[in-house]
Amino acid sequence: MKSNIEIQRIEKSKIDAVDFDNLPFGSVYSDHMLECDFINGEWQTPVIKPYAPISLDPAAKIFHYGQSIFEGMKAYKDNAGNTLLFRPIDNCKRLNKSAERLVIPQIPEAVFMEGLKRLLEIDSKWIPTNEGSSLYIRPFIFATGIGLHASPADDYKFVICTAPSGAYFAGKVKVLIEEKYARAANGGVGFAKAGGNYAAQFYPTQLAIEKGYNQIIWTDDNSHEYIEEAGAMNIFIRINDTLITSPTSDRILDGITRKSIIQIAKDMDIDIEVRKISVSEVIAAAQSGSLKEMFGTGTAAVISPIAAFGYKNTDYDLPTIATSFATTLKKAITDIQTNKAEDPYGWRVLI
Ligand code: PLP
Ligand code: COI
Repeated sequence: MKSNIEIQRIEKSKIDAVDFDNLPFGSVYSDHMLECDFINGEWQTPVIKPYAPISLDPAAKIFHYGQSIFEGMKAYKDNAGNTLLFRPIDNCKRLNKSAERLVIPQIPEAVFMEGLKRLLEIDSKWIPTNEGSSLYIRPFIFATGIGLHASPADDYKFVICTAPSGAYFAGKVKVLIEEKYARAANGGVGFAKAGGNYAAQFYPTQLAIEKGYNQIIWTDDNSHEYIEEAGAMNIFIRINDTLITSPTSDRILDGITRKSIIQIAKDMDIDIEVRKISVSEVIAAAQSGSLKEMFGTGTAAVISPIAAFGYKNTDYDLPTIATSFATTLKKAITDIQTNKAEDPYGWRVLI
């Protein structure tokens, strides 16, 4: 591995054109990006350069065989102007887990962390300070190596780009519990953040959107009886005062927000169960009135309360609860992320 980072600064920042009071999610990009190539079996010197398109050979294997993985993280500013990350090493470890499954070379933790820190120092002004906004960070690796033979590429590119972002969902979240399509299968790549997992979700999700839903709640591919996760979030369900979430498996992404919420909930003495939860249990709870809340967790989505869900042509509305677990847990996690509360877990990382 070659070290040091080469830095090429932008001539004129684009920041003045950005309306930080009305940030969309993930569609405004900061001045710089980091690129690091894997060539001749080793990672080359990382380069931080002005955000720009990437030119690739038409035979690059990313186009044909989809060797592409990514991560999602956020940087926050606290009231004193410090830049903070949340459990960044976990993202690096998960990227490498995805890499292993897709036969992509491992990215050394030092390249990931040093590159990220330097990029955030250079684009520090791009980290929003408005409540609910943050700098969304997208590290990714894809196959640049060429060849039409269906085998792993020789060469890859690691990139980090960043996007000052507001909320992932605008308005109420309505989800559809899937009965036919599957996101992932046993022995497959569901646990990895592989680009192809998301491409495969688009068609059924589009069908759900046409019916008025925002996202799908995926069920197990075999029986479609058990709740797994949503398109970009893990799912928590509150029945009476018990919070339930599915165990992770090779079909479900091991969400960093999910595991943080499980820990925080335990420490708040919220009764939490990590176990399989069937669709019929959720429907029975909705019918009896014991279904109190459903919410999704994720880096982009933070904690997104679900207002209603659909199943077999019936819609079920969730009640509005004054002191919901979603609100309490969202405050607890975002206070840790933004340095408004103590961090007894050591999750917050100061840049
Ligand atoms: N599940 C899927 C499919 C996702 O894409 C994400 C987003 O990263 C999550 C769950 C939540 O994971 P995390 O909390 O690590 O962002
Ligand atoms: C994230 O929450 O960071 C994700 O990667 C989800 C993404 C599909 C927006």
